[in-house]
Amino acid sequence: MTAPQQSRTFAVDGWSPSSWRSRPTLQQPEWPDRGALAAATGELATLPPLVTSFEIESLRAQLAEAAQGQRFILQGGDCAETFGGCEPGAIAARLKILLQMSLVLVQGGKRRVTRIGRFAGQYAKPRSHDTETRDGVSLPAYRGDLVNGPAFDAASRAPDPRRLVRGHERAALTLNFTRSLIDGGFADLHHPEYWDLDFVKHSPLAAEYQSMVDQIGDGLRFMETLVGVNVAQVHRVDFFTSHEGLVLDYEEAQTRQVPHRAGWWDLSTHFPWIGVRTGDPEGGHVEFFRGIENPVGVKVGPSTEASALLRTVERLDPFGTPGRVVLITRFGAHEIARRLPALVDAVKRSGRPVVWICDPMHGNTETVVPQSGAGKGVPVKTRKFGHVLAEVEQAFEIHRAAGTWLGGIHVELTGENVTECTGGARGLADEQLAVAYRSAVDPRLNYEQSLELAMLIARRMAR
Ligand code: PEP
Ligand code: CO
Repeated sequence: MTAPQQSRTFAVDGWSPSSWRSRPTLQQPEWPDRGALAAATGELATLPPLVTSFEIESLRAQLAEAAQGQRFILQGGDCAETFGGCEPGAIAARLKILLQMSLVLVQGGKRRVTRIGRFAGQYAKPRSHDTETRDGVSLPAYRGDLVNGPAFDAASRAPDPRRLVRGHERAALTLNFTRSLIDGGFADLHHPEYWDLDFVKHSPLAAEYQSMVDQIGDGLRFMETLVGVNVAQVHRVDFFTSHEGLVLDYEEAQTRQVPHRAGWWDLSTHFPWIGVRTGDPEGGHVEFFRGIENPVGVKVGPSTEASALLRTVERLDPFGTPGRVVLITRFGAHEIARRLPALVDAVKRSGRPVVWICDPMHGNTETVVPQSGAGKGVPVKTRKFGHVLAEVEQAFEIHRAAGTWLGGIHVELTGENVTECTGGARGLADEQLAVAYRSAVDPRLNYEQSLELAMLIARRMAR
């Protein structure tokens, strides 16, 4: 395990947990009842935190290693969690796929891997429009279960601050089960039947995939004999949580000072990130996140200007603390080569020790209209496996050419057998999307596609 680093402890001029309120802050709900909001945030502020400052310090130290190419970050989970999706089968399946992917990446990359779930708080979504209109009726847009409900009626769509407390509770339930599974479960990691490898026979790389998994099993059995404990326990400490830090009423209420450590800590998650729509360096989100001790992610997309990005990084990390800022790039397979090199160059010249992570999902979303099957003629949001892989491969290459490191990947996935993204070894077609399309928001890689992606990345890293 990595030794925790010193706290950043700088005097943050003019910052307080509420100083974001004096800045233009996008994507915030218009809570109709201010009294109910005050009651909810007041309650949140007194509840036990979801994570602790020492866990956050440990993650920051691991991110500092990733900034130097000594570690790889695997960040993944749902686009949007829902309160209804807080259910043991889904939680266990998601944990299993993340764990398996990380083992594959360790095997191929010969680097330690840090797992960060997109869960236990990923309940709020940015929207392109504040309202949604159907048949002449306009209602507030659905902003995720943390804010309002998806049903198209006035009562569901009214932002309800009690959802902030409910979100905290659902996050706690998710985290509690996750921690228990990691503590006691997953003893079967090294048993071949634990790996659902049916799909590999559809791939020309079948033999290679099988040998990867065999080697992982051998390695785990060897280590367990050597250390004398279950491998899941060895890895217990490095599973972290993350979510988009979008609703600042929620984040502020859980931001605290803690005994024996300097600074302010956002204890709603280990690793909050700032979405691409709220990344304005002068806006409320950058203001809020510049004052907390957590590592902070920043999404970087086709509309991100180098000058604005440098300003954001400087505001979030004035003293160049390794592991403090993680830049999560999401351009799309067709844009990354045009956009990423200049940004990498600008940040490199600024000397700031950021971690670069590739999100190969959000720039590759497209709408297709299946020509046959159950979903015939109905437009559906999807992503092609080939585009996802192509963006990651280009990211590796661009960083190699620039003399920087690709420090990790950020993926939207589920451990279940959904049909939301096309392609992969089984060659899932547009016509099959309707079979098990369950995402309410963005399309996710299913179990097999996720494992295959990890295997192809591991293969790339082994080269
Ligand atoms: C997301 O990660 O689900 C998301 C909305 O991403 P971005 O801010 O990059 O569009
Ligand atoms: Co998404």
